[in-house]
Order: sequence, then structure tokens, then C-alpha cells
Amino acid sequence: MADIKKGLAGVVVDYTAISKVNPETNSLLYRGYPVQELAATQPFEAVAYLMWNGELPTEQQLADLRATERAHRALTPEVKQAIDLLPTSAHPMDEVRTAVSAIGATETAGITNVLDAVGTPEENLERSVRLFAALPAIVAYGQRRRRGEEAVEPRDDLDYAANFLWMTFGEEADPVVVDAFNRSMILYAEHSFNASTFTARVITSTLSDLYSAVVGAIGALKGPLHGGANEAVLHVFDEIGTADNVAPWLDEALAEKRKIMGFGHRVYKRGDSRVPTMKTALDTLVEHYDRPEVAALYDNLESEFVSRKGIYPNLDYPSGPAYNLMGFDTLTFTPLFVASRITGWTAHIIEQQGDNALIRPLSEYNGPDERHIEGYVPDAANL
Ligand code: CMC
Repeated sequence: MADIKKGLAGVVVDYTAISKVNPETNSLLYRGYPVQELAATQPFEAVAYLMWNGELPTEQQLADLRATERAHRALTPEVKQAIDLLPTSAHPMDEVRTAVSAIGATETAGITNVLDAVGTPEENLERSVRLFAALPAIVAYGQRRRRGEEAVEPRDDLDYAANFLWMTFGEEADPVVVDAFNRSMILYAEHSFNASTFTARVITSTLSDLYSAVVGAIGALKGPLHGGANEAVLHVFDEIGTADNVAPWLDEALAEKRKIMGFGHRVYKRGDSRVPTMKTALDTLVEHYDRPEVAALYDNLESEFVSRKGIYPNLDYPSGPAYNLMGFDTLTFTPLFVASRITGWTAHIIEQQGDNALIRPLSEYNGPDERHIEGYVPDAANL
């Protein structure tokens, strides 16, 4: 009997030099740097550079990346057209997935020999930077379009985080909000072989192109057991309503054996290393917007759930209400995760391309024993 590792739990599949998750010490390192230190000190663009190049940028390298990012921020007419073909009731993750697919089809147009699809490392780094630059406008336009608003042109005088908020809301965000948003982007950027990154690596391992790998990763991220949880946390908050309703709500939810969104993690069993940093950002926002009831609900649900089940919050738990306070629609939360994780995904795609082996595991067959077509009677089969 084969030793099946359901969900590949505990299976080490390959090496990576991009990030290290250590549940024992409750730490997450990006290229060796603790994520908390990066979130507290760096602009997201510098962390993106680190992800792709292995080192933090010099001032000149950061300026160069920012110049390229600014040059590719605007929504192109082709991408806008692709989005506009979709109903406004389409889920924004489907919208983002379609937009990236359209960018891929446009940028790889003319490559007719499938053996050339994968591209060179230099081409793939350039493609990664362009996707990183393009995603904020796609996400921002998605939210605006659902609200019946026009797209807002990017601003060259604003850095990544401030410009992202500008394009979404059409007004300059307070520095406190920009800082919290920048931190969230850094915290979401990378997390080793999570489901969406692994999906991207599987697709890359067939020598398919970077865009196909990112489109697949977006599909994996959409699920509520992965990235969709930040959206789902807000549904939970909406259902509970107020802090004093936490205990009865939880009684019922646990009796129904529901999974409580924003809690639990496949790797971290004693708390997610990213939560304290995001919780601090959430506290700042609660104070900034004067919304103490959000913190009360957050704290009550956390303490009730942890004391009953011993299962701790993951990053989606503080980031959901933080994005809500910033003014993002609940449906936009997981696309924000995409805009951040594009850095980690593309770094993994490039790493996989550099030392590739086709990812093709085995399965243990448990279907019918061998049988033969001569015993097959169509009419009987249709009964
Ligand atoms: N609510 C209620 N029970 C839970 C939860 C939860 N959020 N998480 C785990 N459990 C229970 C689960 O029911 C099971 O109990 P039992 O052994 O009695 O059947 C036990 O804990 C082990 O759970 P599991 O689902 O087998 O553990 P896993 O490692 O496969 O799952 C998880 C990890 C993230 C899928 C799960 O904790 C979950 O569904 N959480 C809610 C969704 C969520 O917040 N997802 C975001 C994950 S972090 C961000 C990211 O990486 O995208």
C-alpha cells in the first residue's frame, strides 16, 4: 500500500532560496530578512526587488525599478477592453485572471513555436516587473467599475502604495493609510510552497509561459482555503455584527462544524508570524478612522475561538478588516493579495525555470479492476 500524503502535507518538494517559513520559531524570512523588519522599514517596491534579485536594492536600483513600474502603470486599451467585456457582477478574481491572460496573449503574440514559450530569464524578469506594475490599475478599475465609476489615471509623483490607493479612490490617501497598505502588500508577498505558488511552479515545470503560470496561480488563490479567506473574514464579521454576539454566533457555527475563516494554517500551528505586524497596522487604522467597535469584534472573536479550539488567526484575519476600513469593497480583498503575491509567484517561476524538473507525482489507483469492452452493453449502461 502506497504511503499517501493527502494534500502533500509535510512533503518537502524542492529547494527554494526565496523564503523560509519556520513554524518552530514563528518566523518568515524573505531572502533571509525577517518579514516584520521589511514591513516596518521598506517600500513594497524594494521588497519586490529583493524577491526577484535576492538582495535589497541600492538607491539607484530602486529608482530604476520605480521608473519602470511608473512607466507601466496605466491600464492599456486592450486590457480595459478585455475587462469591460465581462459583466460587472463577475467576481473580481475572475476579472484579474482574465486581465492577466489578456496581457499574456498580447505580450507573447507572435511566438508560434511552443518551445519558445518559456522565454529567457531576462525576458521573464521584465514580464514580472510589468505585471507587478499593471496589476494595481486592474484591481483599482475593477472596484471602480462595479461602483459605476470611471478609471482614474495613475500619478507619476506617487510611490506604488500611494498610487494604488489614488487609482482606487480618486483621492490622495492619508500617510497612515498608505503605510498600513504598504505593510499589507509586503506581508502578503511570499510564503514558500503555498497552493498558488506551487500551482505556478507546476505550470512552469511543463515549460509553459510565465503568464499561464500566473493565471493558474490566481485560480488557486481564489479559493477560501487560501487567498479567498480575507474576503470570507469580512462575511464572518458581517454575520456576527457586534462584539457581544461573538459567543452565541460561535456556538452555532461550531455546532454546524463550520470552518472559521481567518483561523488556522497548514504550516503554522502556534500562530502566523505575519499577524502581529498586520494587527498593529489594523490598530492604527482603527484609531485613524475612530472605529473601536471593529477592534472589539476582532479581539472577542480571536479570544473566544483560540480559547475554545486552540487555533490561531492567520494573516487574513487582520488584513480583511484593515482593507475594509481603508474603503476597499470586500470583493476586492483577494485581488489585493494577487497584486502583492505577484512578486513571490514570479520569483518562484524564475527559480523553477533556472533548475527545472517536470512536476509529475504518482497516484495509487483505487478504481474498478481491469475489465474489457466486450462486456459493455450501451443500453444496459443507460438504464
Ligand atoms: N475553523 C474551525 N476548525 C478548524 C479551522 C478553522 N478555521 N482550521 C482548522 N480547523 C480544525 C479542522 O476542522 C480539523 O479538526 P478535526 O481534526 O477535528 O477534523 C483540524 O483543525 C485540522 O484542520 P485541517 O483543515 O485538517 O488543517 P489543514 O492544515 O489542512 O488546514 C486550513 C489549514 C488553512 C485549510 C484551515 O485551517 C482552514 O480551513 N482555515 C480557514 C480558512 C482560512 O483562513 N484560510 C487562510 C489560510 S492562510 C492564508 C493563505 O495561505 O492563503
